[in-house]
Amino acid sequence: MIVLGIETSCDETAAAVVTESREILANKVLSQLAEHAPYGGVVPEIAARSHLDHIDRLVAQAMEEAAMDLAALDGIAVTGGPGLIGGVMVGAITAKTLAQVLGKPLINVNHLEAHALSVRLVEPGADFPYLLLLVTGGHCQLVSVEDVGRYTVLGTTIDDAIGEAFDKTAKMLGLPYPGGPAIEAAAKRGNAARFDLPRPMLGRPGCDFSFSGLKTAVAQTVDRLSAEGPGAGELSAADIDDVAASFQAAAAATVLDRARNALAAFRATHPGTPRLVVAGGVAANRALRTALEGLAGEAGAVLSAPPPELCTDNAAMVAWAGVERLGRGLTDPLDFAPRPRWPLGDVRAEPA
Ligand code: KG4
Ligand code: ZN
Repeated sequence: MIVLGIETSCDETAAAVVTESREILANKVLSQLAEHAPYGGVVPEIAARSHLDHIDRLVAQAMEEAAMDLAALDGIAVTGGPGLIGGVMVGAITAKTLAQVLGKPLINVNHLEAHALSVRLVEPGADFPYLLLLVTGGHCQLVSVEDVGRYTVLGTTIDDAIGEAFDKTAKMLGLPYPGGPAIEAAAKRGNAARFDLPRPMLGRPGCDFSFSGLKTAVAQTVDRLSAEGPGAGELSAADIDDVAASFQAAAAATVLDRARNALAAFRATHPGTPRLVVAGGVAANRALRTALEGLAGEAGAVLSAPPPELCTDNAAMVAWAGVERLGRGLTDPLDFAPRPRWPLGDVRAEPA
C-alpha cells in the first residue's frame, strides 16, 4: 500500500509518499517561515495564499522523488483539520481533485491524529495502547491512544499551548520567530536558577496544563529588566539568556509534573510497561526530552520520540495516518468538510 500525504494546516506546505512497510519514499516540506517572520507569527491569509502557490509543485516533487506515477498510488490522505481554515481548504481541494481524477480512495486525516500515530511510522514496536504527550504551537495534551480512531484525552491546556508560550516568550525577548528553537539556544547559555518563575499546575491533581501565568511572569520580568537595562527598553544578552533558561526550566517542570500524573492514570487502566510517546514541534526541545527520559526511567516506562523532522509539521505523518486508516477500510467521501476545530476526542474509526 502506497499513500500520498498532503499537509497545509499551518505554515508548512508539505507532500510525502509513504508505504505500508514504513518506507518514506518522499517527504517534501516547504516552510513559510520567511513570509511570516516580519509579523512575528503566522498570518492566515498569507499562509493560505502561499499554500495555493506551492502545493501542486510540492506534490509533483514528491512523486518525482518517490520515482512513481500518481496512478501507482493506493490512496490520497490529507489533513482535513484542525488548522487555519484557508490552508486546510487548499490541501483538501487538492487531495479531492487528485482522488476524483485518479479514482483513488480519499482519507481525511485529523492533524492531531497524524502527530499521534507518527511514532508508529518509525517504531514498528510502538503497539497500541500508549500514552501520548502532544506538544505543538496550537495544542498541549496528554492522550491515551487506544487504537486508530480511539483517543481518550486525559488532560489539555486550559489557556495557551506550550509552543505558543515559547513563541510569545521569544517575542518578548526580541528573539526571532518561531520562538522554540531560539529559546532553546539562548537557554543553553543562560542561568535557569536566576529567575524563580511560576510552575503552573505543579502538584495539582489531574493532567491539565496552564501557561498563561508563566507568560505573565515572563512579561513582568522583562519589563523590570528593561527598566534597569543598558539602554531604555533594552535587555542585556545575559538577561535574555537567563530569562530563556528560567522560562524553559519552568515550562519543562510543568510538563513533567502533568506527564507524571498521566502515567499514573494510564497505568491504573493498562497493565504492563507503559510507553510514553512525545510528539509535536516542541518535542524537538532537547531539555524537555532529557527531562522526559528521566521521568520514564523513574516510572519504569519506555519513552519514544519520533525524530525532529517527523515532530514538526510534515506530510509523512499524514500519509502514514492515511496508511493506518486505509488499511482498516476507513476512507472518506469527496465532499467531506474541512474543519478549523476538530478535537482528537471526536475522531472516529467507523467507515464514512
Ligand atoms: O507541531 P508544530 O510544528 O506545529 C503545530 O502544529 O503547531 O509545532 C510548532 C511549535 C512552535 O510553537 C515552535 O516554537 C515549537 O513548536 N518548537 C519548539 C522547538 N522547535 C519548535 N519549541 C521548543 N523547543 C524547540 N526546539
Ligand atoms: Zn502540528
